[in-house]
This record gives sequence, C-alpha cells and structure tokens, in this order.
Amino acid sequence: MTTDPTDRHYDREFVRTFFTSPTAVEDGEDSAKMLRSAAQLRGMEAPDVWVPDNEDATAPSMRDQGVENVVEVVSEHGADFPGEIHPRVVWHRDDPATRYRGLQHMLAMADPEAGAVDHLDGFVIPEVGDIDDWKKADEVLTMVETEHGLDEGSLSMSVIVESGEAELAMGDLRQEAGRPSNNLERMFLLVDGEVDYTKDMRAMTPTGELPEWPELRHNTSRGASAAGLVAVDGPFDDIRDVEGYRDRMTENRAMGMTGIWSLTPGQVVEANTAPLPPASGYWLLDDGTSETELRESDGRWVYDGDALALEQSGDGYVLRVDGREQELSGDDLREELLGRAAYVPGMDDIVDSMEEFEAAKEAGKGAIAMTRAATLEIDGLAVDLEADRMWDEATYQAAKTPIDLFQDVYEHRPDQHDALADRYGGEVVERATDLGT
Ligand SMILES: CC(C)(COP(=O)(O)OP(=O)(O)OC[C@H]1O[C@@H](n2cnc3c(N)ncnc32)[C@H](O)[C@@H]1OP(=O)(O)O)[C@@H](O)C(=O)NCCC(=O)NCCS
Repeated sequence: MTTDPTDRHYDREFVRTFFTSPTAVEDGEDSAKMLRSAAQLRGMEAPDVWVPDNEDATAPSMRDQGVENVVEVVSEHGADFPGEIHPRVVWHRDDPATRYRGLQHMLAMADPEAGAVDHLDGFVIPEVGDIDDWKKADEVLTMVETEHGLDEGSLSMSVIVESGEAELAMGDLRQEAGRPSNNLERMFLLVDGEVDYTKDMRAMTPTGELPEWPELRHNTSRGASAAGLVAVDGPFDDIRDVEGYRDRMTENRAMGMTGIWSLTPGQVVEANTAPLPPASGYWLLDDGTSETELRESDGRWVYDGDALALEQSGDGYVLRVDGREQELSGDDLREELLGRAAYVPGMDDIVDSMEEFEAAKEAGKGAIAMTRAATLEIDGLAVDLEADRMWDEATYQAAKTPIDLFQDVYEHRPDQHDALADRYGGEVVERATDLGT
C-alpha cells in the first residue's frame, strides 16, 4: 500500500498560535517563573502549541538550567495544559557541537524517569539546513526514542525555516518523507524565522527593518500543503503593535498560512482569535482612501466617512470620489457602488450559505445562485444593492476552510468552548460543528 505524502500524521489540522517562553531567566528566586505562568494559561490565553524555548529566548549560560526547568514544570503542569507542548532545543546545520548539545538536552527532557515525556508532543529544531540535515535531526529523535523505549516516530519534529537551504529543502520533503530509511513522517510544523533568514540571505533595507518576505511565507505554506504539514509565520517583534500583528495575520491567511508565532500572552489572545470568522457580517466600502467599515443602523449600512460624497441631482446623482465628480443614473450608481462594496461574512452567514448549498446538493443541484443584498446609506441617501454569486462544489469547499478551522479548534480545545459560545451564541456553534458531518 502506498501512503499519500499529503496525509497528515498528527492530530491538529490547524495551529493558530506557536508561543515561545524562555526556559530559564536570571531572577534570583525562581528561574522557571515564565515557564510556570505560561503552563497555567487556559482558554483563549493558552496557545495551540506551547514552545518552552531553550534556544534564542534563553541566554546560552542558562540553557542547562532551562532543561531542568522544562522537566520540572512540564511534569507538574503538562497533564492539564490544553495545547500541545513542543520544546525548542539547540541545533545548527554547520556545527556538530551544537547538534550534540541538542541531543543531550532532548535526552534529558524525554527521560521517562523524569516524568515530562508523557506530556511532550515533540521537539522544535532550529537552524536546519538542506534535507540531509533534516534527516540528521530526525535520526537524533529516533535515537532519543530508542534510548528511552518510546515508540519510533512518537515524538514529532517541527523545524524553523531560517536559511535558503531550509527553504529549498521544503521542496524535497514530499519525496523524502516516507522512505524506509528515515522517520520524516514525524514532521509537524514548518515555522518561518525571518530574522535569521534575513541574515542568511544577506538582505539589507535602508532603515534596517526586516523585509516582509512574502515569498518565504508563500513557499512555506506551499511546502506545508505539499507534504501534509502546518505552516506558521515567524515572530512579530513589535509586540505592542496589535494592528500591525492583525494585518500580518490577514496577509498570511490569504496565503494559506493560519498560524503565527506569539511572543507574549497578549499576542496569543490576538492570534487565537484572528482566524475565527467574525460573529456578525459587515459591509466594507472602498471610498478611494481605504476600505471603510460601514455602520449598521435600522437595516441600512451607513457610510460615515467624508472621502466619498453623494448628492441627488434631477433624476440622477452626483458622486464625488477619487478627486472626480461623476453624474450617474440610478443604475450606474448601483453598479459603481457594487464595485466598491464588499461583504465580510460572519459565522452565521457562512453556516447559512453552506447549509443552503448542502440542501441544494441533496436535492440534486450542482450549482446555485446565492444572493447578497443590502441598503447602503451615503449622505442620507439610500441605495439598494444586490449581487448574485454562483456556488458549486469548489466554492463550497473553499468557503469551508474557516469552518474546518472552527471544527478543529472545537474538537481539540474544550477549554475554549465558553469563549466560542460567548462569541457566536450556542445555536450557531452547534450548527457550525454539525456542518459536513
Ligand atoms: C519580549 C518580552 C521580554 C516582553 O516581556 P514583558 O514586557 O513582560 O511582556 P508583557 O507585559 O506582555 O507580559 C505580561 C506577563 O506575561 C509574562 N510573559 C511575557 N512573555 C511571556 C512568554 N513568552 N512566556 C511566558 N510568560 C511571558 C511576563 O513575564 C508578564 O508576567 P507578569 O505580569 O507576572 O510580570 C517577553 O514577552 C519574552 O521574553 N518573550 C519571549 C521571547 C522569545 O520567545 N524570543 C525568542 C523568539 S526568536
């Protein structure tokens, strides 16, 4: 029997949050303080994947202490932690001594006598190189499993993609995973590391800001899709810029990259919430300067901005936008505004549309027209808009991604059920969990 390389070998289909915590900080009293508080996060404050970080987040002089802290805190709190736990260890494609330390740290953390391994889902390997280097890391994990009598492949492996070599290796993964001479089926996350990638690429910008690297993010998302893995974007280090973090996540999701690194508990809440559809839908209007959110009032969607202006003139209208003045008939105005308006569906809209399509399919129809109608109000004037969109099986499948995400969260994160019910209401939650089943 051949296995499909895009089959997933792990439980989570989506990972929204990859939260790193320093394993040991010089504190006088308790060097494991940050680990201890992160291990007790719950609900929207707890990440999907928690990464006790014994690499860059922890000073080199504190890393041996960090291993002891991971063992202690994960043994004590791991059973109750609602997400998965994947410590990051040291590794470097160019340095055998670093790789050897990584092996020693993994051996210590996975020692069954120490009590943490029952709650460890895998390890995160940074600074990987070409595919042969990924195989070395995989073999080291196999040695750790063998030494401790664990099942081969029971510890998953995630990598940080932070070099050109690693970026290219993602293209080999589909071929290489599943060969009898390796255990690369253990792969789980492909996580971008833009800071080191920038250094590796010798990239420069006038201000010293990190380049945006949309190509790397696209390639990582593509690599994950081709090999049945999960793609995660790297750290967003402007930690108080919530809007910037949200914009980055919006861009990522359009590339199929749902997950992102979180550096602080505040970022975890943002990143857990951002990919979930809004509770209610709303209209946007491109007013020539930005996509402005319209305000709902008495069944109308009201534009409050002043970049776009509308007034009645005889039988028609005058529309001022983009520095132009247009005289338009009622029909032309509707057409112009249809081109400028867009609807962001809420969870209830997505569920309604999918149920409608499922019912049509049941009744033997392959394609249907879905109508979206609204009354816009601009400068006190009401304009009725209506648009039909064709839905077929492909539309249904593409629209289903937010529902797949929701269902994955609902199944794996019972600690977030209350937050989801508060956001959407119990009835919509129930219909969303039932869709497609
Ligand atoms: C960047 C950083 C120093 C900012 O710390 P900060 O200014 O205290 O951040 P916040 O104010 O948002 O923190 C709120 C609380 O959460 C704790 N906290 C912050 N980041 C945390 C983390 N990553 N893990 C666990 N706890 C964390 C803080 O200690 C603070 O606790 P307190 O209220 O008991 O003092 C800290 O978030 C950090 O060390 N993050 C991880 C860095 C990392 O992973 N780097 C490697 C990436 S390449």
